Amino acid sequence: CAEMAMVCLTDFEEYAKEHLSKATWDYYAAGADECCTRDDNLLAYKRIRLRPRILRDVSVSDTRTTVQGTEISFPVGIAPTAFHCLAWHEGETATARATEALNICYITSTYSTCSVEEIVAAAPNGYRWFQLYVYRDRKLSEQLVHRVEGLGYKALVLTVDVPYTGKRRNDIRNQFKLPPHLKVKNFEGVFQETTVPEEYGIPANTLDPSISWKDVYWLQSITRLPVIIKGILTKEDAELAVEHGVQGIIVSNHGGRQLDGGPASIDALADIVDTVQGRIEVYVDGGIRTGSDVLKALALGARCVFIGRPAVWGLAYKGEEGVREVLQILNDEFRLSMALSGCRNVAEINRNLIQFSKL
Ligand code: FNR
Repeated sequence: CAEMAMVCLTDFEEYAKEHLSKATWDYYAAGADECCTRDDNLLAYKRIRLRPRILRDVSVSDTRTTVQGTEISFPVGIAPTAFHCLAWHEGETATARATEALNICYITSTYSTCSVEEIVAAAPNGYRWFQLYVYRDRKLSEQLVHRVEGLGYKALVLTVDVPYTGKRRNDIRNQFKLPPHLKVKNFEGVFQETTVPEEYGIPANTLDPSISWKDVYWLQSITRLPVIIKGILTKEDAELAVEHGVQGIIVSNHGGRQLDGGPASIDALADIVDTVQGRIEVYVDGGIRTGSDVLKALALGARCVFIGRPAVWGLAYKGEEGVREVLQILNDEFRLSMALSGCRNVAEINRNLIQFSKL
């Protein structure tokens, strides 16, 4: 069965669903409440139609681009997702090696099951950003920031859509938590005597629901790294982000795991891009499953997209090799979609590719 040919990303999804425990599968797949937003993330891409151009000599195509001034081989990165050891025994070290090999950006989740030191040691030359939450105990956030700065992480991704964890029904039914042999490694030794109630293996109430825009200034005051805000869905907040001097925005609804009823992330993108007007880079995640999805996101103004669940499916399939396969398939599909729509390089991808009358 491991020998079956993987053709598209949903092949990895099927494999993961068959081979992971039910509780783990449910955790990865979860959306909030009725999963409307989670499902719309995918459906929204399928509503968009393209306007392909022809006879443009697409014999040579170049998928390279830059994010925050650094060259990557194609405009897809790995979104931060927690607990990679649940999917594959080597966990985040496998993800790190795969992304290093393909020269793309890997956003490490705060809730990794390998420590940031182990991740960097596994793939010393990888291009990485670190995803951060703001803890009630600001010292904890500050220590993490200084640790990842020292390790060569190139940006901080502040996730702002989790003042509280969304209500994911199956996780409640399964009473999901990390199995005892796995740890949130970055916090080892930090929360020692935890008799407090836990949420996903992390002491509950560690995240600070009182965070506000002034904490963005606070974060900037303790770091020299670029700050990127993840979880913006409106032009108003995008404008505030620019005014607060951040270097990037990830348009995201957390894979539909937080507020159910919010927009599909791709539907929120264009307005935000129009407001930002190139002052900072805008990225998007949520629901990207094919190369033409990547093309559509770039045509609507994203600099780069990030994938969450598909990377975890790749891990569940074959660890590092599985993540590489997922990325390679997406790269091949993206290159083909570019060529079939008449684009020779990423700079040629623009709004003229989108058939707005169909939206
Ligand atoms: C996430 N996501 C997430 N985001 C974040 O900032 N920190 C985190 O620790 C996690 N953890 C996490 C776990 C799992 C299992 C999932 C599915 C998602 C959200 C993630 O970064 C991203 O926004 C979505 O996964 C993108 O949607 P797709 O690609 O999964 O459809």
